[in-house]
Amino acid sequence: MNKRFPDNFLWGGATAANQLEGAFLEDGKGWSTADTALYIGKEARTQMLLGEPMTRDQVEFAMKDKKGHYPKRHGIDFYHRYKEDITLMAEMGFKTFRLSISWPRIFPNGNDQEPNEAGLAFYDAVFDECLKHGIEPLVTISHYEFPLHLALTQNGWLSRDTIDHFVRYAETLFNRYKDKVKYWLTFNEINIIGMTGYLSGGILADGIDNMLAAQYQAGHHQFLASALTVKKCHEIIPDAKIGCMLARMEAYPETCNPQDVLASVKADEMNFFYTDVQIRGEYPAYMDSFFEENGVVIDVQEGDRDILREGTVDFLSFSYYMSMVVGESKGETGGNLFGSIKNPYLKASDWGWQIDPVGLRITMKKMYQRYQVPLFIVENGLGAEDVVTEDKRIHDAYRIDYLRDHIEQIGLAIQEGVEVMGYTPWGCIDLVSASTSEMSKRYGFIYVDLDDDGKGTLERIRKDSFYWYQKVIATNGEELA
Ligand code: BG6
Repeated sequence: MNKRFPDNFLWGGATAANQLEGAFLEDGKGWSTADTALYIGKEARTQMLLGEPMTRDQVEFAMKDKKGHYPKRHGIDFYHRYKEDITLMAEMGFKTFRLSISWPRIFPNGNDQEPNEAGLAFYDAVFDECLKHGIEPLVTISHYEFPLHLALTQNGWLSRDTIDHFVRYAETLFNRYKDKVKYWLTFNEINIIGMTGYLSGGILADGIDNMLAAQYQAGHHQFLASALTVKKCHEIIPDAKIGCMLARMEAYPETCNPQDVLASVKADEMNFFYTDVQIRGEYPAYMDSFFEENGVVIDVQEGDRDILREGTVDFLSFSYYMSMVVGESKGETGGNLFGSIKNPYLKASDWGWQIDPVGLRITMKKMYQRYQVPLFIVENGLGAEDVVTEDKRIHDAYRIDYLRDHIEQIGLAIQEGVEVMGYTPWGCIDLVSASTSEMSKRYGFIYVDLDDDGKGTLERIRKDSFYWYQKVIATNGEELA
């Protein structure tokens, strides 16, 4: 077989601060929207829960609640165990480790006069540990959390002031870590603001008549913040690369009925809107009719279009877990962000996510054709329940199958001319689920002894997939068996 993966291909794994770190309010960290997320659990497995709107009363209740279980406050205690965890990643041969920085760990209220030195020092130590092992940090500046103070005082990204606070936060990171971090992402799954208005947008539901309009306005502010951040990054760290991050929703037409095909084209437009703005630097014309039909009027101020044009990203990173089907039929199945019509050709995970490795290749080809910028697959993986045997082994052949089939397709896409920077499967170490706050929905190569009730020793155990991925990396993707 031809050599497919380039020599500098960045193999690794991905995580996010709010699902991993724990150390809630420790060393000066402020409240984050993620800290108010209750455990939801198994009954909600096939529902989309990230998008639950929160009112001020609900948030204030969560802040005082002594009885509820809030797993994201505890994560898997990476804050105190990062050395052990990064050493295990190094043992697998990671070239890169995707992690996010918690904004309220750096600016507890989001807009403080001075950054929190203890928070900055923590990430210094994490990056040093990575670099010691030859692992390049890949840092997401904002991943599904937001300083709660800014949500309560100015309704998050709905306020234009949030742009300045965010850019100051990003600038602080660039100045501090310029010698350590060369790969950056602005907003995780920026297109999901429509589903995570509270979690990532900091928008409270109170008093908002048109939530859709609010989310697109907030999205406009994120676009501006992202563009200004990209510009700052290039000024402060000239040898860095900074990308956008899209939750890619490959949507097949249900049939060859032109109406179904049109539905899939429109689904692409709604998804690619975000990358069109961040890569091409302007709003695409197709959104005008969508905004008109939905009564969305965005406050675009003088100079905004120049900012967008001057702050385009260097690469397109994306998450891909599954494909979807759109059309007239109503048969629903689950999904990480949206439900979809069932695809009779595909199997699904226990959570109803339709497993489609070829869909990854399709989507990579489509995106590369559209933009001709390098791609980076920064999330992909299978959430599954693992069983620990008596001799403390985890035989996760199902996870190996899923990842092998997807890597195979990435290799083929590369052979077919798609430029790819790297691959970081999601939740390389088991962590708290973003949507349901479960622990039992595991993605990792490394098992963490912690259950849905927050009980366990937190011991880390290598799964079968750990040794398999180690071999994949060692052979640069040539040996997938
Ligand atoms: C992605 C998010 O959408 O999906 C991650 O960026 C998330 O934060 C991942 O964890 C998997 O979703 P879940 O709900 O299974 O954790």
